[in-house]
Amino acid sequence: MLITPEDLAAIVADVGLDALMDESIEEFENALHDGDLDVRRRDGFATGRDGAAEGAAGGAGMLEWMPAARRGDTVALKVVGYQPANPRARGLPTVLATSTLYDCRSGALTAIMDATFTTALRTGAASAVATRHLADDGSKVLGVVGCGAQAVTQVHALSRVLPLSRVLAYDRDPRVAWSFPGRVAFTGLPVDVVDLDELERRSEVLCTATSVPPGAGPVLTGLELAPAAHINAIGSDLPGKAELPAGLLARAVVCPDFLPQALVEGECQRLAPDRVGPSLAEVVAGGLGDSLRGLLTVFDSTGYAVQDLVVAETVLRHARRIGVGSPLPTFTGAIDPLDPYCLVRRATSAVRAGAATR
Ligand SMILES: NC(=O)c1ccc[n+]([C@@H]2O[C@H](COP(=O)([O-])OP(=O)(O)OC[C@H]3O[C@@H](n4cnc5c(N)ncnc54)[C@H](O)[C@@H]3O)[C@@H](O)[C@H]2O)c1
Repeated sequence: MLITPEDLAAIVADVGLDALMDESIEEFENALHDGDLDVRRRDGFATGRDGAAEGAAGGAGMLEWMPAARRGDTVALKVVGYQPANPRARGLPTVLATSTLYDCRSGALTAIMDATFTTALRTGAASAVATRHLADDGSKVLGVVGCGAQAVTQVHALSRVLPLSRVLAYDRDPRVAWSFPGRVAFTGLPVDVVDLDELERRSEVLCTATSVPPGAGPVLTGLELAPAAHINAIGSDLPGKAELPAGLLARAVVCPDFLPQALVEGECQRLAPDRVGPSLAEVVAGGLGDSLRGLLTVFDSTGYAVQDLVVAETVLRHARRIGVGSPLPTFTGAIDPLDPYCLVRRATSAVRAGAATR
């Protein structure tokens, strides 16, 4: 099945954004208990700096692939581009992605879908799961540092699991900061654009979602944070990239989404392995949240391919239910599986037949 952005819009119109976010949160949390899932660390190509258009806000780009499998059933492979120059230079999101699904039994391609929207959706959902288990469940003030695309779904997702009454927003680009209240107005939450000191002082839960370049962090000072604050750090996902100061990490319980990846790309890069806390899966499956709530906690979110598999399955399920998506071109009729040229012959004769009738 081919799922286009128009098909995704039809699914959102049918399901509703809130219900789709709620379902994504539940499905991801369920997946953390699922022993049938298999994940590999992401890999990719550095795509280099993007010249003058990138300016001070940019950094190296990446094109990466993220594999996950539901054993014996489906392999999901997301290819994701990261280019912080995109919004200004091309009018495109920083993160662009496509997901493909394959049948494990035959190896056949079963679905292709745009994954730019679903990446943002599932990244929000992952923070919601972490927040539900690690933050004070009465938290009312959310601080967001970095107010780009991912920040929108961070606010949306956290509004579904916390009784939020206010959002504090900071972005080093004032145009992005001042456009943020409008982009999250659908949540009904009041948003104050503030400076970083005020945000750190007043927030009970924080999300850092910045494109800070490798070597240029941290973005938080960590000086005036509440002792039991919870932070979803989602922007650190490259070697050398860091949003949180080392001193903050040293006094926090840091829970990675996927340890092998977080040690290379995430906030965990700056922690000795024995200083890293339980993974989110261990927190959820082991019911550790109650013993950690009340401490300073960090969800080190580097992007977990299980999230992509699960959200792609959710989208496919809805697409089938409401009848959107187009069939992919595939082998039809009787073919000789031992003759790779038979398909070409068939196509050639069909073209000849078409030409003869014109
Ligand atoms: N953990 C995950 O699963 C996951 C998923 C998607 C994206 N990401 C990461 O999240 C980050 C944000 O992605 P996006 O799509 O929102 O990008 P974006 O370009 O839309 O927004 C990033 C914002 O961060 C701001 N920023 C950069 N440095 C800053 C600083 N020092 N202080 C305050 N603001 C700063 C920029 O001005 C920009 O507005 C990226 O690093 C991306 O790789 C993580």
